[in-house]
Amino acid sequence: MDSESLYIERFTASERALHWVHATAFFGLLATGLVLYVPSLSVLVGRRPLLKDVHVYTAVGWLAALVLVVVLGDRRRLRQTFRELDAFDSDDLMWLRRQAAPQGRFNAGQKVNVALTAAFAVLFAVSGALLWLGERDHRFQFASTILLHDGLMYVSLVLLVGHLYLALIYPATRHSLRGMTLGYVRRDWAERHHPKWVRKQGQ
Ligand code: HEM
Ligand code: HEM
Repeated sequence: MDSESLYIERFTASERALHWVHATAFFGLLATGLVLYVPSLSVLVGRRPLLKDVHVYTAVGWLAALVLVVVLGDRRRLRQTFRELDAFDSDDLMWLRRQAAPQGRFNAGQKVNVALTAAFAVLFAVSGALLWLGERDHRFQFASTILLHDGLMYVSLVLLVGHLYLALIYPATRHSLRGMTLGYVRRDWAERHHPKWVRKQGQ
C-alpha cells in the first residue's frame, strides 16, 4: 500500500496555524494570569506591573495573530471547517447521550469543545478589556468582571486538562496529534473514529 492510501489529510496548514497560535497565546495568558492571581507568586516574581503588561500585550498579540491567520490563510477551507463544526445531526445527539453512533470529521464532544473555546475567547477578551479600561475610567468598573475573568480561567483549565489527556495520553485518541502537527492521520484510525468523514472523502 502506498503512503497516499495509508494516510489522509486531517488539518491544513491554516487550521494548524489557527490551533497553535491559539494554544500558544492561551498558555502565555494562563501563566502570566496565574502569577497575577496568586499573591505569593506575584511576590516571588516581584514585578507585578511588568507581568500585567506582558499579559495584556499577549492578549492583543493573540487576537491580532488569530485575525492574521484567518486573513492570510485558506479562508475557503476554514469556512468549510466552520460549517462542519456548526452542524449537529442525530448521530451527534446520540453520541452525547453516550450511545454508539458514527461520527463525522469532528465528534460531538469536539464540536462542543470548539463552541466553548470560541465563546470563552470572546468572554476573556471582553472581561479583560473591561479590567484594563476600569483601571483608567471608573465607569467601566464592575464588581463581577474579575469574577467572570477568574471563573473562565477555572473552567478553561478543566477543559484543557481533558483535552491534553485525549491528545497526549489516551491511547485510542493520541494518534490525533499527528494530524495537528504533520497534517495527516492514518486512514484506518480515521475510519475507526470518524467513519462518516472518511466515507465522504472517498466520494
Ligand atoms: C483578550 C484576552 C485577555 C485580556 C485582554 C486580559 C486582560 C487582563 C487584565 C487587564 C487583567 C488585570 C490585571 C490586574 O489588574 O491585576 C487580567 C488579569 C488576569 N487574567 Fe487576563 N486577559 C485575557 C485573557 C486571559 C486568559 C486567556 C487567561 C487564562 C487562561 C487570563 C487569566 C487572568 C488571571 C488569572 C488574571 C488575574 C485576575 C485576578 O487578579 O484575580 N486572562 N487579565
Ligand atoms: C500542548 C497543547 C495542545 C495539544 C498537544 C493539543 C492537541 C490537539 C489535537 C491533536 C487536536 C486535534 C484533534 C483531532 O484530530 O480532531 C486538537 C484540537 C483542538 N484543540 Fe488542541 N491542543 C493543545 C492545546 C490547546 C489549547 C490550549 C486549546 C484552547 C485553549 C486547544 C483547543 C483545541 C480545540 C478547540 C480543538 C478542536 C476540537 C477538539 O479536537 O477538541 N488546544 N488539539
